[in-house]
Amino acid sequence: MSPRREILAGNGAAAGGDGQAPTAGAEPQRPVDPGPEPGEEDVEAGLRPRRLQEFIGQRDLKGRLGIVLEAARRRRQAVDHVLFAGPPGLGKTTLAGIVAAEMGAGFRVTSGPALARAGDLASILTGLQPADVLFIDEIHRLPRAVEEILYPAMEDFAIDVVIGKGPTAQSVRLGLPRFTLVGATTRTGLVTGPLRDRFGFVAHLEHYEVDELQAIVARGAGMLGVATSAEGAQEIASRSRGTPRLAIRLLRRVRDFVEVRAEGAITLEAAREGCATFGVDELGLDALDRRLLEVLCVRFAGRPVGIGTLSISLGEEPETLEDVYEPYLVQRGLVLRTPRGRVPGPAAWRHLGLPEPAEAVPAAAAGVPELVAPRLPGLGELGV
Ligand SMILES: Nc1ncnc2c1ncn2[C@@H]1O[C@H](COP(=O)(O)OP(=O)(O)O)[C@@H](O)[C@H]1O
Ligand SMILES: [Mg+2]
Repeated sequence: MSPRREILAGNGAAAGGDGQAPTAGAEPQRPVDPGPEPGEEDVEAGLRPRRLQEFIGQRDLKGRLGIVLEAARRRRQAVDHVLFAGPPGLGKTTLAGIVAAEMGAGFRVTSGPALARAGDLASILTGLQPADVLFIDEIHRLPRAVEEILYPAMEDFAIDVVIGKGPTAQSVRLGLPRFTLVGATTRTGLVTGPLRDRFGFVAHLEHYEVDELQAIVARGAGMLGVATSAEGAQEIASRSRGTPRLAIRLLRRVRDFVEVRAEGAITLEAAREGCATFGVDELGLDALDRRLLEVLCVRFAGRPVGIGTLSISLGEEPETLEDVYEPYLVQRGLVLRTPRGRVPGPAAWRHLGLPEPAEAVPAAAAGVPELVAPRLPGLGELGV
């Protein structure tokens, strides 16, 4: 018998997925946006690993989660509440499903933004079966009043319901079955202390290495039934910004490409051409990323640029630049944040095929303390 898997009202898809602002109705989504595209969740659901064994990468996390699950199984108890934290597209929803599957438990899905009123959550909680896994995606977006219902639910497996109004109102405590709450968040900093403290196990997901993404691409290609060489899979992996969702999305685009334009198999050549056709370059940058680098290197010639100026140059909100564009560029050393503003890293010049200016930006101008600037020895010191 397969466990119940139910999507409760207003799941993550409708509410905008992974903490990214919903893009519906706006400009077309970027190929490198790590949040799910409209309709993508159905495709992803088919490719999700169901068991911990099939889950690739995140070795430490997997090891620890495996122990937590095994211990609960042996005690025949519901697992401790688990919080998965990390950037979009790294496997939080997948892991939540794995927790339920490994425990042979029912899986119920909802999300922070979908739970507008305390009553919404109360009715979900009272409908739970023993050992069920309740997954709350984007748990940092739960309204305060709703979050407060969770405290006694997580700790004492009970909720307090107020019956009646005014002076005769009475608070009644309702018992709940022992269940497991699995929370996911892209913003650990926004999960309140009291909520975080009630999770027995908090796991942080890290970006993936290229060889891990290669294995994810190869597995996905097998499931999609498209022949892929190791080099082809590696090429897609290395353009995927450490993110399985992007690896799988690129794989699907390249599969379309080879079905129409190439021999139907993903070779190295086909992977390169396919990615280029969809505007994703060797480092996984798209046209907008490259435009940002060009503004820094060409228009401002490597001088520090304030976020406001950059925002006007690119016609993008400062928040979008900081939350969506910059993290990956900074991580790859393509953009450096200094107190005076953004400057291109050495990798940026190389990537654009431009010579790095011989005369580096004066250290002071880039906001680097003078002390670290190389000091030329005086003639006396050279013994001349
Ligand atoms: N470790 C992994 N191994 C295989 N596939 C993965 C892995 N992590 C994520 N995926 C795939 O990437 C996609 C996005 O994962 P998801 O769990 O929805 O990420 P998140 O919830 O963190 O945004 C899914 O299609 C999933 O199958
Ligand atoms: Mg998710």
